[in-house]
Amino acid sequence: MTAVAETRAGLRIGPYQVDPPVVLAPMAGITNVAFRTLCREFGSPDAIYVCEMITARAVVERNEKTLHMMAFGPDESPRSMQLYGVDPKTLGEAVRIVVGEGWADHIDMNLGCPVKKVTRLGGGAALPYKRRLFANIVREMVAAAGDVPVTFKFRIGIDDDHHTHLDTGRIAEAEGAAAVSLHARTAAQLYSGQADWTAITRLKEAVTTIPVLGNGDIFTADDALRMIAETGCDGVVVGRGCLGRPWLFAELSAALRDQPIPEGPTLGRVGEILLRHAQLLTEHDGEDKAMRDIRKHMAWYLMGYPVGSDLRRKFATVSSLTQIEDLVTQLDPTIPFPVEAATGPRGRQGSPQPKVTLPEGWLDNPEDATVPTAADVMHSGG
Ligand SMILES: Cc1cc2nc3c(=O)[nH]c(=O)nc-3n(C[C@H](O)[C@H](O)[C@H](O)COP(=O)(O)O)c2cc1C
Repeated sequence: MTAVAETRAGLRIGPYQVDPPVVLAPMAGITNVAFRTLCREFGSPDAIYVCEMITARAVVERNEKTLHMMAFGPDESPRSMQLYGVDPKTLGEAVRIVVGEGWADHIDMNLGCPVKKVTRLGGGAALPYKRRLFANIVREMVAAAGDVPVTFKFRIGIDDDHHTHLDTGRIAEAEGAAAVSLHARTAAQLYSGQADWTAITRLKEAVTTIPVLGNGDIFTADDALRMIAETGCDGVVVGRGCLGRPWLFAELSAALRDQPIPEGPTLGRVGEILLRHAQLLTEHDGEDKAMRDIRKHMAWYLMGYPVGSDLRRKFATVSSLTQIEDLVTQLDPTIPFPVEAATGPRGRQGSPQPKVTLPEGWLDNPEDATVPTAADVMHSGG
């Protein structure tokens, strides 16, 4: 069987058959219940759509804002929650609460955040360098989760002199993780350049008893097929490619089921979709917050369509649902999907960071399992 045919045959994460093997990547500020609902409406109900990252400490403290962020739609299954933390005890306690309260069916952990204010405290992408600390985290989370599968999402390492993904994958596997995902960049790369898919191939060779999911630079359904064919990964995790393009999940489903890929939407259809997104946000957060949130999606929705700068600006500064309804009527509904202009990279890109900021002496001893202090708080994602 080819890699693509084998992957099509199925991905199992704990008790869940993920079909097709596609995961909406957790994205802070993006993958809230509204956006996940929209992606699911286009994609398979049996794919996985991961919520925004939740800090373990906030769960333990039962922070009200955090509990609101943890909302899932009535038909979301499995309900997939991503946790962030650095302390095995706090993470274990958070998992115990989430599982005990029945708040989620799958827990993922974020070990990929590359930003300075997180890595300088030893959190996010800095953490897997500390192998024993990481093993303690996996052990506590898995023990607290019982039958709920726990998965781990990480980068290649800190920088090109400190690759950790193979160790991280093997430790996760040995300590009971249900699957691992690799964003095939180092923390130093941030979102720049190209993801190195050969690192996914190496991870797949190193981790043999649980699924290995590949992540990084899937912007079209063909990219997903190519990643599977090139790396042999068991599933794909898609982030920026679906920003302003939730219908990408329909394309991914079709491609992975060997069906014809549907054409991208006309501008009229995009108007309907962005309005639906705004309505879903409003249902969950009220109109004010929803409007602040939807503004950042507008440039992505309209990317590549000839809309005109005046109308584009109005979309980017909307303040009510009625205004969006009105603006949508001003779009030319017949304009076809601009294939060339709308299928390339989108979302965060930028340049690499010259040096990843780490706590003093962080690299001296990878076996040191001391829990970093003050690194439990984080809002910026991955
Ligand atoms: C706006 C934004 C927020 C993100 N937040 C998170 C997060 O909370 N947790 C996480 O593990 N990764 C986060 N990521 C990283 C993505 O999950 C994914 O690993 C990365 O974007 C690479 O995949 P892509 O090339 O498909 O976008 C975020 C990425 C973006 C663009």
